[in-house]
Amino acid sequence: MNVIIKTREDIEKMRIAGRLAAEVLEMIEPYVKPGVSTGELNRICHDYIVNEQKAIPAPLNYGAAPGRAGFPKSICTSINQVVCHGIPNEKKILKNGDILNIDITVIKEGYHGDTSKMFLVGDVQPFNQRLVQVTRECMYKGIQQVKPGARLSDIGQVIARHAHANHFSVVEEYCGHGIGRGFHEDPQVLHYEGYGNRNDCVLQEGMTFTIEPMINAGKKGTKLLGDGWTAVTRDRRPSAQWEHTILVTADGYEILTLRKDEQAP
Ligand code: MF3
Ligand code: CO
Ligand code: CO
Repeated sequence: MNVIIKTREDIEKMRIAGRLAAEVLEMIEPYVKPGVSTGELNRICHDYIVNEQKAIPAPLNYGAAPGRAGFPKSICTSINQVVCHGIPNEKKILKNGDILNIDITVIKEGYHGDTSKMFLVGDVQPFNQRLVQVTRECMYKGIQQVKPGARLSDIGQVIARHAHANHFSVVEEYCGHGIGRGFHEDPQVLHYEGYGNRNDCVLQEGMTFTIEPMINAGKKGTKLLGDGWTAVTRDRRPSAQWEHTILVTADGYEILTLRKDEQAP
């Protein structure tokens, strides 16, 4: 494991990248309505990131390798049973009652900011509203563990306990991650109690990583669709996710992707 401790200069740039990512989520909010396509939401975000923010949408072409095409769009849009990495599409139209995650990652001056939130499209069933709320609480309970001397495993422990107390399950195939000049740096941030004694780590001032729990209404299992990106729940029941980029400070944490409208509990 190679966890990069950020310098003061790195942190200044991480704050800027984080704020830009948060501002994309603020900007897109009024467009998220029944009848809009996820392709349209992608286009609006792409144009805003490139033309207004003069930044780079990190997902576009991410993960390209010999024999494998990279991610084809600039944001991820994950609806209902889609756990993460949903691909925006002109033909995918939001409908009343959908729950939607929009995941934004921007690169500014070489540094990444990564954040996502859930949107309720029109009138959403109370059960699905509760899934969205509990998932947000899971993310915040994880964030509140962050301080020097705490362990990475403390984060996964509180997230899993809160999800299970509400009879939901925690996705294990995807996790949070260190972030900086790299999109996905060490360490891996598990959202469940899965480290055993290996790969856990003690948090230190200057670390930056994401916390991004994916919580399922039904069973925890996921399946990758044939497009090679879209992850769905195996049982096709809904899933929710929220994500922030976090800095470990001298006495706790700073949320680098906090939105203006957001009241951190
Ligand atoms: N933003 C996602 C994360 O939280 C990663 C998206 S990678 C993509 O780590 F290729 F699917 F866009
Ligand atoms: Co992330
Ligand atoms: Co993300």
